[in-house]
Amino acid sequence: MGKDKIVTLLNQDLEGEHGAIIQYLSHAYAMGEGEMACEIEAIAREEMRHLDWLAETIVELEGTPSLNRGKMRMGGQLVADWMRNDVLLEEDGIALYKEHIKAIDDPRIKRLLGRILSDEESHHGDFEHFAEKVQREGAKDVRGSRQDRVVQTLNWGIGHEYTVILQYMFQSYMTANPEIKKQLEDQAINEMQHLGWLAEKIIDISGNPRIEHTEVDQTTRTADMLQADINIEREVAAEYDRAAKETEDPKLKELLLRIRDHEIYHTEVFNDLLRGEELG
Ligand SMILES: [Fe+2]
Ligand SMILES: [Fe+2]
Ligand SMILES: [Fe+2]
Repeated sequence: MGKDKIVTLLNQDLEGEHGAIIQYLSHAYAMGEGEMACEIEAIAREEMRHLDWLAETIVELEGTPSLNRGKMRMGGQLVADWMRNDVLLEEDGIALYKEHIKAIDDPRIKRLLGRILSDEESHHGDFEHFAEKVQREGAKDVRGSRQDRVVQTLNWGIGHEYTVILQYMFQSYMTANPEIKKQLEDQAINEMQHLGWLAEKIIDISGNPRIEHTEVDQTTRTADMLQADINIEREVAAEYDRAAKETEDPKLKELLLRIRDHEIYHTEVFNDLLRGEELG
């Protein structure tokens, strides 16, 4: 099997991981605080590691990691339905990995997919267990229907964070510069924290977090890439600042200002990298 074909298969797997991460995070946030929600978030984090391994392998094969999100199994009125959807999504993943392990002959890639497959089988068991437990003990959907300006602003923030997470991860895979790669990874992790804080805040105030992203800048020339990052960071720092000034809620103000300060820090990091890049 040629490189291009392997890249196509690995990108399918990567898209599946992307879908799983968002599906599981949505469920974990909607269940609020609690042991099961934490365990589901931990599973989402394992899917992020899978995504990372797949993307790095795709780049080694001179491919480009896909930014598309694979199929999700959302919907369902009750938490028990969500858990059953998560079981089904793991089944989709398991079937696909088995198929790809059979189709690919490169031993190293086969081994990697086998490693991921064993995690998915364990997740499958976890979700079956959660589904049973919820059936037995019940679990609450803690989302509310509040849809005012505050919730809209926080959801805007989630959309922004999700977009830059994808952008910085994509750039970290595509750049050949190890210092830039490391910074992009660090900032992506920080943006993931922001996304989690915003989602939890929305739940706190009886809203419904929406995890959707906007357009991701896919330039790969280093200076252009960093400039795009600087522009977006500046824009959002200003937006978080505006939202913080607008709110009367002291806790919310504190959260927005904290994120704003991080975004200012990110602007400065990217500015330094850009200057370094221009100086050669
Ligand atoms: Fe999984
Ligand atoms: Fe952020
Ligand atoms: Fe940022």
